[in-house]
Order: sequence, then structure tokens, then C-alpha cells
Amino acid sequence: MAAPPPLTAVHARIEAYYGDKVARYGATPRGVDWTCAPTQELRFIQLLELCDFCRPFSLNDVGCGYGALTGFIARFHPRAEIDYLGVDLSRAMISRARRRHRGMAGRRFVVGSDIPRIADYGVASGVMNVMLDHPRALWEEFVADTLRRLRASSRLGFAVNFMARKPDGAETPGLYRTDPAPWIAFCRQALGSTAELVDGYGMREFTLLVRPAA
Ligand SMILES: C[S@@+](CC[C@H](N)C(=O)[O-])C[C@H]1O[C@@H](n2cnc3c(N)ncnc32)[C@H](O)[C@@H]1O
Repeated sequence: MAAPPPLTAVHARIEAYYGDKVARYGATPRGVDWTCAPTQELRFIQLLELCDFCRPFSLNDVGCGYGALTGFIARFHPRAEIDYLGVDLSRAMISRARRRHRGMAGRRFVVGSDIPRIADYGVASGVMNVMLDHPRALWEEFVADTLRRLRASSRLGFAVNFMARKPDGAETPGLYRTDPAPWIAFCRQALGSTAELVDGYGMREFTLLVRPAA
């Protein structure tokens, strides 16, 4: 499903931004604009709360960057049987991801914003944060579009994180901060899903675990 025209331009800006990061810092947390591996991995822990590791499953990692999540799963869930697909807008990211995870069974990577298959679960870490200089309303269209794609491509549910607002409400130029409530309501009303809020994990962020309503 192609993005509507205003979002095509947003996607192009995102691709350029992250392409530049990975060219500068390589396949490292800084290369996907995170400060360090421990916080990158703390986010993965929250997102993976969605998944039942007692049985095999398929997983779409949307905005996969260089595929750090699949490396994390291999280290911390070595017995898990996971059919993993990483999707990223950035061609440069996907080429790093393919190089890094070459020859590893059950891992594939594709370039784009389209999520080309339905999996049991979807996850998206850090995809909503860097708004650049887009107007907030346009960025929220991008967020809504990405959530719709995740919903349409996840059989059992998806998990996504956001940056939380600061207590004094101050904005950080270029970053998208939000309260959970509007996106929990969006999941219920527009996606027919329930959203479980996960917060209090030591970062000014929150994670939503989104499951189809019964
Ligand atoms: C902050 S980085 C995080 C990378 C990875 N999730 C991690 O935690 O290591 C965000 C990534 O999402 C990608 N991205 C942003 N919006 C996207 C979209 N709608 N579809 C696919 N990829 C997207 C960017 O190109 C970038 O590589």
C-alpha cells in the first residue's frame, strides 16, 4: 500500500536523515540515533513483552535499522524459533543489516515503508521520535499511517514506543513527544484494538502493547 503524497515526502526526509546517521556512525546505536546499547536494549525488552516465546512465531520489525533487535533476540532468546522480517525506509540501513546478519537462517530484510507480509507480531522502536521540522499535524498523520500499517500486518498484535512529554511540557526541537492517551484512543477507535501502556522503565518514554480487541 503506497503512502499518500504528503507522507511520501516525509518518508524521503526520514530516509535521508537516517542514511546520514548510519554513514557517519555505522551499524551502532549512534548510527540509528540512540545514545547507547543499554537503552536501545531496554526498549527491546519492553516491546518483546508482547510476544509468547514458548512457541514459534513470525515477527515484523518495522524501522529495523541495522537489525539490532534480531541480534538481541539471538543473544537473549537463543532457543526461540522466530521467522524475522526487518523493514526500513533507509536503503543504507538495510544494506548494513543484510551484511551484519548474512547467512543467519530465518532473518530477512526489505527496504520500504510497505510491510509486505502478515506476521504474528509487529514491533517498531524509535520510529515516531524524530519529527525533524515537519509540522506536528503532518507528523501525526505519519504516526497514524504507521500504526495502521502495523495493525494491518500483525495477526496477534504489535508494540511501539514513543517519547513522553516532559513534566513542564517543554518541547524539544525536532522531536515528537506525546501523552499516551490520544494514541491509546486511536488504537481503540481507529484500529479496533486495545493498547496496554508500559511505562516506568526508567526513561522518559512509554511503550504500547496493542492487541486486536476480542
Ligand atoms: C531510531 S531508528 C531505530 C532503529 C531500530 N528500531 C533500533 O532500535 O535499533 C528508526 C528507524 O526507523 C526507520 N523508519 C522510520 N519510519 C519508518 C517507516 N514508516 N517505515 C519503515 N522504516 C521507518 C528509519 O529509517 C530508522 O532506521
